[in-house]
Amino acid sequence: MNDEKFQEAKEKINNASSIVFFTGAGVSAESGIATFRGVDGIWTKLKPEELANFDNFLKNPEMVWAWYKYRKEVVNESKPNPAHLAIAEAQKRFTEVTVITQNIDNLHRRAGSKTVYELHGNIQRNYCVKCGTFYNNDIDIEDKVPKCKCGGLIRPDIVWFGEMLPESEFELSEIASRNCDIFVIVGTSGVVYPAANMIFYAKESGAYIIEVNIERTEVSYLANASFFGKAGTVLPRLLELDDNSGQNLL
Ligand code: OAD
Ligand code: ZN
Repeated sequence: MNDEKFQEAKEKINNASSIVFFTGAGVSAESGIATFRGVDGIWTKLKPEELANFDNFLKNPEMVWAWYKYRKEVVNESKPNPAHLAIAEAQKRFTEVTVITQNIDNLHRRAGSKTVYELHGNIQRNYCVKCGTFYNNDIDIEDKVPKCKCGGLIRPDIVWFGEMLPESEFELSEIASRNCDIFVIVGTSGVVYPAANMIFYAKESGAYIIEVNIERTEVSYLANASFFGKAGTVLPRLLELDDNSGQNLL
C-alpha cells in the first residue's frame, strides 16, 4: 500500500464537491455475486453468446430463463456489502454523488445511493419483446418462459451482447463523468465498451481518477492513484471522514 498516494487521494477527496463511482461486478463480489472474468468468473465457465444474446434467447428461451431465474435468486438473497454502503455514505459529504454501474443487481440502490445510472439494465425488471410492456417481479416465475398478456415472450431487462445501452442513462452518465472532480473506478475489468468510455470522458475532463480493484486492469494506466485490495475494505477507509494513514489497509 502506497501511503503517500493514499494521503494524496484522501486530500483530493477532502477538497472535492462532486464524485462519480463507476462500478463493476467486483463491487458486488463480497455480496456473493460472481464476477464475469478472472478466477471463478461466470464467463470462464459459461458462454455469454448462449446466455446473454438475443438470437439465442429466441432459439432457446427456456435455457436463458433458467439461467436468469438462478441469477435472480442469487441477487435476491444477497445484501449490500461495506463497499456499497461506503458509496452511499459519501452522499453525506459531497454535493454531488453519482453511481454509474454496469451491475444489474440493484445493490447500490438497496444500500441507499440515490443517483444510480444502470448502464446494463436491472435484473428485477423484465419486458415483453413484442409490445414492450414492462414487468417487475410480477411475472409468473413458475412459468418456464414467462409470457406477456399479448402473447409475446418476456425477457429480463438486461443489455445483452450486441445490444444498445439505455440512451438516457448513457447520456447522463457521460455528463456526470465529464463534470466530476473525482472519478472512482471500482471492481471492473474495464474491458466492456461502450460502458468503459466513461473512464476516458472523466480523464479528458481532468478528473482525479482513483482505481480500486484486487488486481491491475486494462484501465489502471489511466488512474492517478490505484489501490489494490477488496472494495469492501479499501473504500470505507478511503472515504471515511477522519484522515487516518493508509496503513494496514490491505
Ligand atoms: P468483470 O468480471 O469483467 O471484472 C470484475 C473486476 O472486479 C475484475 O477486475 C476483478 O479483479 C475485480 N474484483 C473482484 N473481486 C473484487 C473485490 N472484492 N474488490 C474489488 N475488485 C474486485 O466485471 P465487469 O467489469 O463488471 O455485462 O464486466 C463488465 C460487463 O461484462 C458486465 O456488466 C457484464 C459482463 O458481460 C453485461 O451483463 C451486459
Ligand atoms: Zn406484450
